[in-house]
Amino acid sequence: MKSTSTKSSSPARRSTRKTAPPARQAVQRAAPDAIKSLRQDHAKVKQLFKDFETATTQAEKARIAAETCLELTVHTRIEEEVFYPAVRKALSREGKMLDEAEIEHASVKDLIRQLRSCEPGTTRFDALYAVVSEYVLHHVKEEEREMFPKLKEVKSLDLKALGEALDARRSAIHDEEEVAASGKLH
Ligand SMILES: [Fe+2]
Ligand SMILES: [Fe+2]
Repeated sequence: MKSTSTKSSSPARRSTRKTAPPARQAVQRAAPDAIKSLRQDHAKVKQLFKDFETATTQAEKARIAAETCLELTVHTRIEEEVFYPAVRKALSREGKMLDEAEIEHASVKDLIRQLRSCEPGTTRFDALYAVVSEYVLHHVKEEEREMFPKLKEVKSLDLKALGEALDARRSAIHDEEEVAASGKLH
């Protein structure tokens, strides 16, 4: 009967021989084009609006509201810093459309400020969240139905490069806003 030979490889020793996972680290995530990237943000926020409606506890609502404020803040910033300037350039005759979008952003940001300083569990908190969601849904509809289709017709605009720029800026702003928001959230 063969005995199982115990080679001198103690678990402790083996664990130190951990090697970096092969090629996986090198797998790159291709950045979506600018329109797809922004549509993904929109979809995420729309889902948060639905989650808020079905939330059953105040703590859950407060958490969803905090996440909504963060996502909207990051999204409005990347649009204002990266996307809208490029759109303004590409669609030089659509200045009014861009002005309207920026004015709507200013209102959303003001609503976010109010929501962040409002006490969860109050009727005002729920009312503010409802107004934010209605307002944002209106704004998103205009971007997706008016602005984005116009951009697809502009051949000189590199939506892929713009998508990469949005992605890079999004992660930097997300970290920044998360830290800033930690002092404001409930
Ligand atoms: Fe926007
Ligand atoms: Fe947007």
